[in-house]
Amino acid sequence: LVSRGGAIEVDLEARFGPTRLAGRSARLFSYGGRVPGPRIEVRPGDEVTLRFRNNLPEPTNLHFHGLHVPPTGNADNIFLEIPEGERLTYRFKIPENHPAGTFWYHPHLHGLVAKQVFLGMAGLFVVRGELDEVPEVAAAREQFAVLKDFEVAGGRVPPPSPMEFVRGREGSLVTVNGEVEPEWSLEQGGLLRLRLLNASTARFYRLKLDDHPLYLIATDGGALEEPYELDELLLAPGERAEVLVRGDRKPGRYTLWTLPYNRGNGGMGMGGGMMGGARGDTRPRPLAHLVYRGKRKTALPLPERTGRVPELGVPVRRRRFVLGHSMRPGRGMVFTINGQVFNPGRIDTRVRLGTVEEWEIANMGVLDHPFHLHTNPFQIVSRGGRPERLRAWKDTVLVPVNRSVRFRVRFEDFAGNAVYHCHILEHEDLGMMGIVRFE
Ligand code: C2O
Ligand code: CU
Ligand code: CU
Repeated sequence: LVSRGGAIEVDLEARFGPTRLAGRSARLFSYGGRVPGPRIEVRPGDEVTLRFRNNLPEPTNLHFHGLHVPPTGNADNIFLEIPEGERLTYRFKIPENHPAGTFWYHPHLHGLVAKQVFLGMAGLFVVRGELDEVPEVAAAREQFAVLKDFEVAGGRVPPPSPMEFVRGREGSLVTVNGEVEPEWSLEQGGLLRLRLLNASTARFYRLKLDDHPLYLIATDGGALEEPYELDELLLAPGERAEVLVRGDRKPGRYTLWTLPYNRGNGGMGMGGGMMGGARGDTRPRPLAHLVYRGKRKTALPLPERTGRVPELGVPVRRRRFVLGHSMRPGRGMVFTINGQVFNPGRIDTRVRLGTVEEWEIANMGVLDHPFHLHTNPFQIVSRGGRPERLRAWKDTVLVPVNRSVRFRVRFEDFAGNAVYHCHILEHEDLGMMGIVRFE
């Protein structure tokens, strides 16, 4: 679905029913009967009209993850609730100066987010712009990759066990664009532009491609200044990355893997393992295959520059957020930020528009937490006390167990209430979310 003449109109229906997944049929939640949902493509300055209809057997709503648009009205307002059978039209304008990048949409109704996303609700929301016009990037073959796990038994998704939910649910069926191990082609001498989204509720992807380095050119919020060579790439839930792959190896078939990653031991030994471990897969898992096909006369070079990432300047204020968890009588395990569980009637943080702040996020828990902030992208300053080398726009950052991360953010343009939360969506539903008011 591509915008034309400065506008896009989209009809989007949330559905529950038989959906095609990995060559079979499963009863899933979806946008328009497809997993992932339809890809929406816009340009800076576009007016977006999205007519949404909720045909799920429960309420839902929409969030436009990573877009710099108002968190209020009928724009990116996660406090709206659309009851079953009802409609709502979302309307907003993509700012003229919005960076190009890989964004996405998913439900955001507190308490139901993990369930609805796990069942299949997520789609790409792409902003086309400057990065797409860099000649080397434009010459690359573009491949989107929505990484999402499922659990299907007898054509249905069984409910998670309480412990599975607490640690963050990981499904045993791992898909890329709703398929298992798709095959992509790469021209010898050509470039492949892989645009990755981790749309899983809890699963991490530690990506490695046989024999090929990955040249990172964009993170959550858009382009880097120049390609950055990586041997592997870790994507926590909610994160996106764009990488270039050079077709400069021997023609053949190469596998993109996800390697084992330990999200934390769940406090074994200290809390008696209340949550169980979250060690995940113990061996590499193939995600997709790259097959050399054809040959270019002259090889495509990597771009020298991919964009500009201005420094944010000196913060006027510092804040600290501590991620933790506790047992609450009658509620079981809850996840907390500064000791508190989410309360929709409480404003946790007030910030002034037009200022830069530095936030430190400290993980004192027993599981990794990817921290996400709505509306305004940030730049990481340090991780675990080490200065960050790469200047990049992010909206979600992994805060590993016993570590802290500092980032700077400028609050711009839009007044109103938005949220920050853990993007392990089960943790968000179990309370790890706060409200920030831009004023
Ligand atoms: Cu992708 Cu508040 O979330
Ligand atoms: Cu978001
Ligand atoms: Cu978490």
